[in-house]
Amino acid sequence: MSPDEFNFLIGLIRERSGLVLTEDKSYLLETRLQPVMRDNGIADLPELVSKVRANTRSALVDTIVDAMTTNETFFFRDQKPFDQFRDHVLPHLLEARAKTKTIRIWCAACSTGQEPYSLAMILKEADKALAGWRTEIVATDLSAEAMSKAKVGLYSQFEVQRGLPVQFMVKYFKQVNETWQIDSAIRAMVTFKPLNLLENFSSLGKFDVIYCRNVLIYFDQETKGDILDRMRTITADDGFLCLGGSETVLGITESFKNVPDLRGIYAPTKAKELSVA
Ligand SMILES: C[S@@+](CC[C@H](N)C(=O)[O-])C[C@H]1O[C@@H](n2cnc3c(N)ncnc32)[C@H](O)[C@@H]1O
Repeated sequence: MSPDEFNFLIGLIRERSGLVLTEDKSYLLETRLQPVMRDNGIADLPELVSKVRANTRSALVDTIVDAMTTNETFFFRDQKPFDQFRDHVLPHLLEARAKTKTIRIWCAACSTGQEPYSLAMILKEADKALAGWRTEIVATDLSAEAMSKAKVGLYSQFEVQRGLPVQFMVKYFKQVNETWQIDSAIRAMVTFKPLNLLENFSSLGKFDVIYCRNVLIYFDQETKGDILDRMRTITADDGFLCLGGSETVLGITESFKNVPDLRGIYAPTKAKELSVA
């Protein structure tokens, strides 16, 4: 592939998904686009580029962007964000929302569903405290393929052995041949919707909690800042934002600030706290 073809392809992927691909990651194009080329009868990357150049709005482009996403995830990933949700965030909301009895959570890059389902299981475990409450988990992702798997809630033996406590596996999963399907009651607690974080998401409404984990790492600083600032506008003033272990708001935006003693959890900054630099 020529440098021109390479630049065209990574430019298009960046424009559509935010994913920043540098030259040292060019092998990712080869490996991830191989199945796309095979399925579409395309011999090599130059031929793929010429097909895409002919129509940059084709379904092929969506397939390419989807194939370039990294969908790595697992149940209760990193444990701490979920312990903190159960022990700090949820108790706070139970008190703060005692009048409205409503909690809205957004998983902003839910991949194949393990993250929203982990939160749903925590809520289910708290069903006595939440009796009479309306809880809603909205889970979104750019990848149509990841989302279709998420909706079915069917996981391999390997996937249910990654992070999922055995007692939850027994309680909330049933075996279907070689795979494990999450309980329909847990599935019903999550609403899946396709959504590109680069696009306007204000129509999702206000949230008490946003989980946006392990996706900002793929974007440039400006894109991270823009997404976080827009997330601030749909986060309740006393709500929470949870980022991935290697992500932060520091040096990126002043819309959120650290919550003392909690790791990876941020609180919205009130307008008056914003520094007027
Ligand atoms: C590494 S996974 C993280 C999944 C989960 N949040 C976790 O921490 O385990 C990153 C997800 O971000 C999604 N993604 C990448 N770019 C996106 C975009 N522009 N808008 C929405 N989702 C995106 C990918 O499809 C992928 O499923």
